Amino acid sequence: MVNLDDTNKEFHNELKNISNNDELTNLQIKYLGRNGIINDFLKKINDIPTEEKKEYGKKVNELKNSFLRLIEVKRKELSEKKSDKFFDSTLPGKTFPIGSLHIVSFAIEEITKIFEKIGFIRVSYPEVDWEYSAFEALNMPKGHPARDDFETSYIDFPENLKFGKMVLTPHTSNGQNREMKRVGKPPIRMINISKCYRPNWDATHTPMFFQFEGLCVDLDINITNLKGTLDYFAEKYFGKGTKTRLRPHHFQFTEPSFEVDVTCTVCKGTSKVNENKCKVCKSGWLELGGTGMVHPNVLTEGGIDPKKFSGWAFGFGIERVIMMKYGLDDIRNYYSGDIRFLEQF
Ligand code: PHE
Repeated sequence: MVNLDDTNKEFHNELKNISNNDELTNLQIKYLGRNGIINDFLKKINDIPTEEKKEYGKKVNELKNSFLRLIEVKRKELSEKKSDKFFDSTLPGKTFPIGSLHIVSFAIEEITKIFEKIGFIRVSYPEVDWEYSAFEALNMPKGHPARDDFETSYIDFPENLKFGKMVLTPHTSNGQNREMKRVGKPPIRMINISKCYRPNWDATHTPMFFQFEGLCVDLDINITNLKGTLDYFAEKYFGKGTKTRLRPHHFQFTEPSFEVDVTCTVCKGTSKVNENKCKVCKSGWLELGGTGMVHPNVLTEGGIDPKKFSGWAFGFGIERVIMMKYGLDDIRNYYSGDIRFLEQF
């Protein structure tokens, strides 16, 4: 005869291992279903000797009721377990760090927009270019000492008879001749933003840096137009009330040439020389970069008649204007890849 005790043990073993409702339902069907084990036992009652029938029937029924109870208990347990893992859909979700534009990319966008508003066209000329565009076309013939100022890096590439060697451009002024030739005939309003290279590495110089170069050529262009444009840029980029001043200087490709200063973004230009009130500027002014009226030789080389047209140009460092705007003291941080620094902007 089939042993009810064995069935009971087996049921308990199986029940122990149940971990979800589906498994529990299968167990219930296996033991208590229409073709289940308990019903098999009941069907077998006819094979049981008459005097044992009553006792046998009672035991099978007890087993059935015990299985039913235990299954109920297990079902409750499972549903409670489930509520431990209750998913609160009102909790804020997991967030991933959101990236942002690098400060230099951000400044490039800002500067581009400022100049586009007054009709300048953003271009980007090669950062690896011929000596011709970087020097000769800018009134700096071969052997001219001014070329040393840049300590240019040369590319290992066959020299061209007309254009010379390939260089890593030390300034964005290489775009001047290219833009004159691209446009053909003035008016020209260019804003050229590109990478430049000079072998310096300290708190205010990285060997790779960005410049933005303005070039304006048209009829009757004079220094007043230049000054007005610089004032416009200074106010838009550094903030209202920022002023500019021109100091005489020398560049081969401009005549006259100037260095441009803007009033210090920290003391707003109130500090005086030797009074040393402002730690950032010491004099009320910060140097922005070089500018001047385009040299007639440069216009001629670009195919433009200097008797008819005149123009001005400037070249400023992007890292430098960022530094001035936010009062930063080490531009090497820009390229360190340190998120803690970069995410501040
Ligand atoms: N190319 C010069 C430099 O890098 C800046 C400059 C550009 C000066 C245009 C005058 C006119 O220092």
